Formats: sequence, C-alpha cells, structure tokens
Amino acid sequence: MDRPGDRPGDGAVDMAAIAARAPVIPVLTIERLETAVPLARALVRGGLPVLEITLRTAAALEAIRAVAAEVPEALVGAGTVLDPAQLDQVQRAGACFAVSPGCTEALARAARSSGMPFLPGVQTVSEAMALGGLGFEILKFFPADAAGGLTWIKAVGAPLSGVRFCPTGGITAETAPAYLALPNVACVGGSWVAPRVAVATGDWQSVERLAATASALKRR
Ligand code: 3PG
Repeated sequence: MDRPGDRPGDGAVDMAAIAARAPVIPVLTIERLETAVPLARALVRGGLPVLEITLRTAAALEAIRAVAAEVPEALVGAGTVLDPAQLDQVQRAGACFAVSPGCTEALARAARSSGMPFLPGVQTVSEAMALGGLGFEILKFFPADAAGGLTWIKAVGAPLSGVRFCPTGGITAETAPAYLALPNVACVGGSWVAPRVAVATGDWQSVERLAATASALKRR
C-alpha cells in the first residue's frame, strides 16, 4: 500500500489542512436533530468552523446532512466511525472528514480508498508507528487525559517526530492551552465548547462565547 502522503490532495494531506483551520475541534453528540444547525452556526460564529458530530445517537447522520447542507461555513466531520460501512455512510451524508477513537486495518484501507480525510485514534507508541508508517501524519490521541495526557505527548515528541496529535477526551478550557503549547499537537478536540445544558436550552450565546475563547487559543 503506498503512503497517503505520497499523493497530493489525498486523505492525510487534507487532514493537516483541516486541523490547521482552528485550534479546537468541538466534539458534538446530537440528541435532538433540530439543535444541530443552530449549534453549528454558534460554533462557527465563535470562530470554530471544524466540527465533529459523533455517530453515537440516532440523529447523528441526519445532523451531519443538515449541517453540511445548511451551514456552508462549517467543515463538518463524523466522529466515532468504527468500520468501513460507517465511513461510507458518513461520506454519503456529506461529512468532509472522519474521526475514529481507534483504527483497524480495514478502516485505514477504506479511508485511503475513499479519499476522505481521516483522523484515526491511537493510545500507544506502536499504534502511532503503524499509522504514521501508512502516512497518517495527524493522529487522535484518545482518551487523552486517561491515557497519559500531556506527559505522554511530551515523551513521544522526540521518537515519533513524524506525527502530530489531536488529543481528545477529558480536555477542558483550563487544560487545552498546555496541550496546544506542545510542538507535536496540531489541535485539540473536546465537548466543553458545547455543554449539554446550553444545547438543550438553546443557549447559543453561551456556546458562541465558549467557542470564541477556544478559537483564540494559541498553538505553538
Ligand atoms: C470524543 O469522542 O472524542 C470524546 O468523547 C470527547 O471527549 P470529552 O467529552 O471528554 O471532551
């Protein structure tokens, strides 16, 4: 299998461009479809255009479809993509990238042949070596806080110099700046910018304020 980075414009290259768009990728779990578009608009207004909608609810695929169709300023991706069939589904729904909490060989191959930018998850050095070797230059480090957090990312910086990470899982407004200050962190992911209560009550101003603070965070 040739490396994705060998071909300009394919998945790995595009994921780097997507990660460069904002320091934080909101991780969204949509319970009620009607919240998806106003939530996406609030995040975009706050300066976070790259959005991950997780495939964890019945409304997820329709939410991806709605945001892709109605919020053209957003780059909507699908999260919790666990197998090639789901990758196919989210691509048809209009997702422009896909995220997985881990990876399998079948999923990596499917992502490659779909041409869709893909952010696979890792938790160990061996997993990062395997995916880095396939040309995936940006990897989701998940669950970041539980799996070693800042200490892990700092420790792998020298030996794994060819990859950068999008740590996700347990990151907060308070801890995000320290992650973003590391040279091998491309961006961070997290749900803190879209609190459940704010979404349930339609408090889009609060979401926009949280997004504005997050979008102003500096990367190294
Ligand atoms: C994910 O799916 O990436 C995480 O569940 C997001 O984690 P958080 O809710 O701790 O930010």
